[in-house]
Amino acid sequence: MEQIFASDTAIVTGGTRGIGWAVANQLVDRGARVLLVGRNPHQLEQRVQELNQKVPEHAFGFACDMAEQPDSSKQITEYALKMIGRPTLLLNGAGGASVTHALDAPWTLWVDDFEVKFFGYLAMTRAILPIMMEQRRGVIVNLVGIAGKDPNPALAIASAVNGALNGVMKVLADDASAYDVRIVNVNPGATQTDLLTAMAKAHATESKKNIGEVLDEMRAKSPLKRLPGPMDIARIVIFLMSSDSQFVTGTSIDVDGGIHRGV
Ligand SMILES: NC(=O)c1ccc[n+]([C@@H]2O[C@H](COP(=O)([O-])OP(=O)(O)OC[C@H]3O[C@@H](n4cnc5c(N)ncnc54)[C@H](OP(=O)(O)O)[C@@H]3O)[C@@H](O)[C@H]2O)c1
Repeated sequence: MEQIFASDTAIVTGGTRGIGWAVANQLVDRGARVLLVGRNPHQLEQRVQELNQKVPEHAFGFACDMAEQPDSSKQITEYALKMIGRPTLLLNGAGGASVTHALDAPWTLWVDDFEVKFFGYLAMTRAILPIMMEQRRGVIVNLVGIAGKDPNPALAIASAVNGALNGVMKVLADDASAYDVRIVNVNPGATQTDLLTAMAKAHATESKKNIGEVLDEMRAKSPLKRLPGPMDIARIVIFLMSSDSQFVTGTSIDVDGGIHRGV
């Protein structure tokens, strides 16, 4: 495989499962040294081992809760500088999406979900962006979500978090552009990961259907009549991190199989 990231060092939050794990694999396969971030230390260790079995000494792990900001981001950055050097790539991917309507959600859930995803992505970006700007080199990709553009009443908090991320990443991209550093948001549609299983379970409970029926309905609604897997999203992230997309910044790319009606 072409080693297009041989001189790159990457941090992947949410790198132990789902889309983040698919991206971490692709980065290591293409030569990058990668620091994975997740909460579960056992899974983290296992994932780091898997990557190092493919390409020795290319993967490291840091266990922390991204809800604890800005401390977690500072600790991750210090560890990255020690283990992989100055980061040139960042994937913000640690997060989820609670299935809830705006009035039903307890206040604590609003705060928790904003802490993990909005403040998690923002704090990580604020920690890494100055290092990238100093190097005049770097790409940050954020896994955001189509609900940020097309708010979904059943994903009320995720709609707000993702909308806020679209706004803040645009202004950060404005600040970073003069330093040749790019920031791009990616909006996956419903993608087959643990998160989607949890969301389908919650929808199933709410609508008194089984998970299979909920997933079948999602596939039926999709213009392509199927749901993407983590690799479908990871391939786009890799393209956006590569120099092939060097004129793409300050925007968001939908990878939703065409389900979102906006153009
Ligand atoms: N899948 C979809 O349909 C979809 C659609 C739109 C947007 N997205 C967004 O894409 C991102 C990744 O989703 P995914 O489907 O790949 O999720 P996933 O399969 O559930 O994986 C989530 C990853 O994030 C980590 N994580 C979660 N909360 C964390 C926390 N508080 N602190 C540190 N790490 C944390 C998890 O590690 P631990 O378990 O060890 O904590 C895991 O590595 C999320 O932001 C999600 O909202 C997903």
